[in-house]
Amino acid sequence: MGYQEAYDKLEKYGQQHVLKYYEELRKEEQEALLCQIEQTDFEVLSLCQKKETLNPRGEITPIGVMQLPEIEVKKEEYTKIGLDAIRAGKVGAVLLAGGMGTRLGSDAPKGVYNIGLTKEVFIFQRLIENLLDVVNQAGAWIPLYVMTSDKNHETTTAFFKEKEYFGYNADYVTFFMQDMAPASDYEGKVYMEAKNKISTSPNGNGGWFLSMMKWGVVDKIREAGVEWLNVFAVDNVLQRIADPCFVGATIATNSAVGAKVVKKNAPDEKVGAMCLEDGKPSIVEYYDMTEELMAAKDENGEPAYNFGVILNYLFREKDLEEIVAKKLPLHIVEKKIPFLDDKGELVKPEKPNGYKFEQLVLDMIHELDSCLPYEVVRNKEFAPIKNKTGIDSVESARELCKENGIEL
Ligand code: UTP
Repeated sequence: MGYQEAYDKLEKYGQQHVLKYYEELRKEEQEALLCQIEQTDFEVLSLCQKKETLNPRGEITPIGVMQLPEIEVKKEEYTKIGLDAIRAGKVGAVLLAGGMGTRLGSDAPKGVYNIGLTKEVFIFQRLIENLLDVVNQAGAWIPLYVMTSDKNHETTTAFFKEKEYFGYNADYVTFFMQDMAPASDYEGKVYMEAKNKISTSPNGNGGWFLSMMKWGVVDKIREAGVEWLNVFAVDNVLQRIADPCFVGATIATNSAVGAKVVKKNAPDEKVGAMCLEDGKPSIVEYYDMTEELMAAKDENGEPAYNFGVILNYLFREKDLEEIVAKKLPLHIVEKKIPFLDDKGELVKPEKPNGYKFEQLVLDMIHELDSCLPYEVVRNKEFAPIKNKTGIDSVESARELCKENGIEL
């Protein structure tokens, strides 16, 4: 795209400031900027004006959850079904590692964070060790697809190589990059992260399947006969991945998707709760939890929205193709966004200063007709690392690892 064309595109969206430093740039920097302008979807920025009315919620009602006692009774049966599926090569795992981990405050990808105390224990290592437990139990490798982003791809792939995949079979590991979206101030003007670069950030944890398609990974999945994908977050160092009992329960109940859930520790805990929305499976985010929903009780007198999701889902591959064909909605998320100030110097803000535009995995669930919320023991399977200290932190995850006999 030439300068004039780029200018016209920017003018259409009121973003001409992107070219402020154009004259100062070297030729190749100018070309890089023009190329980025060509590729950027500025349309998403108009969502800032509609923020209040974006993604209205439907009627929220409770959903049935498969709880621990019921799972215990069927454990053997479900585990066998799950192991058979894994041995037949029907189950793959998708690690969502494209996030920026801004709350943790490390510039490196979250997975390379070392939570060890007396030895090195990296977050990626913990996840691979958990997956290896199942590989050993099944006697079969499970294909692992790792989503990175433009911001952390090189470091992530180099790290896995350097650490020899922590004992995993590299032939079964595929990396792919997620798409990026522009990041803006509160008025919808894109920030610049360099004089020749519009500020971008990964487009959320819901963009993974579309990115997999773009990278040709879905073709490989189909060829390999993988029918189920267990998608999981990078930050929960205790979660069981491709858990045979969970896989078996989802298959046996003929559910379109399985969702691991934990009992919430308080009605206002900051986790999304599984629910039905207009009769279809969904997740009510903690900030959408009204007093009324928090007080609601089920027929046993228990809180009706008592089970929180932990971003560990088992999707049926063929449903995913239909879901992404429908185009998932975008959400506006307030975040800290590094930007160039008026003097052209890079500022790393201490507080949120603008918006990112994200697709969320919860909207994928809502497209499906059935979901199996599947309870797991909280202290055994939920140790998320979002912050350095306090709730959901390196500290709390270390405590939980110790409780579970994991040496750090
Ligand atoms: P979070 O919502 O905790 O976001 O991601 P984050 O970017 O890791 O951390 P903060 O909010 O900046 O502190 C939940 C999971 O979704 C992945 C993350 O890597 C994590 O596994 N994710 C999130 C992506 O893969 N891509 C994204 O664009 C966002």
